[in-house]
Amino acid sequence: MCGIVAYVGRKPAQNVLLEGLRRLEYRGYDSSGICTVDQNHFELRKKTGRINDLATLLRTQPARGMIGIGHTRWATHGAPTDANAHPHLDQSGKLVLVHNGVIENYQQLKERLAAKGHKFLSQTDTEVLAHLIGEHYQPGIPLADAVRHALKEVIGTYGIAVMHADQPGIIVGARRGSPLLIGVGRNENFLASDVSAIVAHTRRVVYLNDFEVVTLTADDFQVSTLEAASVSPQVKEVEFSAEDADKGKFPHYMLKEIFEQPHVVQNAFRGRISHEESTAKLGGLNLSPAELRAVDRIVFVSCGTALHAGMVGEYLMEELARIPTEWEYASEFRYRNAPVEKHTLVFAISQSGETIDTLAAIRESRRKGHKTLAIVNVVGSTIAREVDGGTYMHAGPEIGVAATKTFTSQLTIMVLLSVLMGRMRHLASTRGEEILEELEHIPAKMERILTQNDAIAKLAKKYSDASSFLFLARQHNYPVALEGALKLKEISYIHAEGYPAAEMKHGPIALIEPRTPSVFICPKNSVYEKTMANIEEVKARKGPVIAIATEGDTEIAGKADDVIYIPETLEILEPLLTVVPLQVLSYHIALQRGCDVDKPRNLAKSVTVE
Ligand code: M6R
Repeated sequence: MCGIVAYVGRKPAQNVLLEGLRRLEYRGYDSSGICTVDQNHFELRKKTGRINDLATLLRTQPARGMIGIGHTRWATHGAPTDANAHPHLDQSGKLVLVHNGVIENYQQLKERLAAKGHKFLSQTDTEVLAHLIGEHYQPGIPLADAVRHALKEVIGTYGIAVMHADQPGIIVGARRGSPLLIGVGRNENFLASDVSAIVAHTRRVVYLNDFEVVTLTADDFQVSTLEAASVSPQVKEVEFSAEDADKGKFPHYMLKEIFEQPHVVQNAFRGRISHEESTAKLGGLNLSPAELRAVDRIVFVSCGTALHAGMVGEYLMEELARIPTEWEYASEFRYRNAPVEKHTLVFAISQSGETIDTLAAIRESRRKGHKTLAIVNVVGSTIAREVDGGTYMHAGPEIGVAATKTFTSQLTIMVLLSVLMGRMRHLASTRGEEILEELEHIPAKMERILTQNDAIAKLAKKYSDASSFLFLARQHNYPVALEGALKLKEISYIHAEGYPAAEMKHGPIALIEPRTPSVFICPKNSVYEKTMANIEEVKARKGPVIAIATEGDTEIAGKADDVIYIPETLEILEPLLTVVPLQVLSYHIALQRGCDVDKPRNLAKSVTVE
């Protein structure tokens, strides 16, 4: 949520910051701003709206200087207005700050500072932090010291970048609970909340840890702790390039990412399948075979789309490994005193690796002595660094706010994990091999589904006026129904509900009428007949039905109003295919309705506040 980029070097900072903010816009997009320093003088520009609005302002009022900080905001404290946009100044007007996170005790701090005569121009917690650091600043002391002293008084989370007009050429950054990294360049250095902001300039990065402070100049950077102990930073190479974070030939990131899925699934299983042993190899788990065998319960904790991947994981793990498995909303798990027995594995699933509730759920489990693992996409993210082990998705940057390719990547890893755990228990080698071989065919089958893009676009036109949708399915495809409903509502703002198909009769059937389409996921599998019976129930009430069915199914065309066909696969792998047409359908419906698919209203890509 929100994005930070900062630059010090020998180029005009405005251009670097603006370009960085464009790449960060998916993290928050209700207002933005930059501040550069030009000969000890701040050039502060902020604007409500998208980065383009800021760019327009900068055309008439350019910000000069070769050092600066920038921010794109997803409002928490205070409405999206120019005044609430970052950067914020302190009382003296000589210190400027951008901030991601939430200062929980800002009200108390504000009252204390107000009693000393501080005047505030915004409703934000960030401005209070700027004033607090300014209060600790004294001429002659390093800016980092003032930052340290102030942060010791703060309760909450922060990723910050700070400058002082009396110390030009220096940017100070610090983090606690909100990601921040250093981009190491030649004669230039960067700070960013997300590597995509700076990857066009450098792929060498240092991920800051919580309670670390960095002082950055064009030629150097010094990392230390909040207690001023010096830290030896580890420089890492980022695995993706600036081109990976571009839209390429696609009109939207979401469509690009949907089309990347065959490749992404391949990346998730590449090098992780052993045909000799008919099992999967997931080295990063950091658990010995004996430890893996001792696991007698698994809890998947996650949010949103990642939660749906965990739900599919429950079906797979119980079926293939016979390990009792549950999924939990991370936000509920973290505050619930759930009994978690000794040999339970708590498993986080997160694209960003920064979702605050998922992180907190993992921390709570660690506190109680449990092994924690994670499936994460963003390398070096907080969750990835805090767990005992896990698996990276290698899905590349996902910029569209609606998660697509990371869902199928997570599902692929779930399959591998379940086969691995199963093969250590009762799963026969023949069954393990059958699943792994079929998994290798999934990318080509996804490609086949994607050839129907234009046909699905036509279908979308037919249904785009509906004001409510139901998504219905059974067994492994039930979480996919939830995911289909989530996709549609988040990008097209159409009300949509996902349900287990049989559960419909217990309430949602009241919603069925000729203007409420039901999307049924009903491939030819063990529950096909049952699902068909549920379709009949909807048709009997004149509800339109769109079916996701198996190629060659001749019966379904006579029942459903419209059918999207998917290739046949093993029942347990169906979610990898059935979700694809739902993503494409949501995309085209949102387009029809004139929605901004990549940046849906009110959302942000990574949810780092509670
Ligand atoms: O980064 P994470 O996977 O932890 O994010 C979890 C959810 O915030 C995320 O999946 C969200 O629901 C997306 N908007 C779904 O498209």
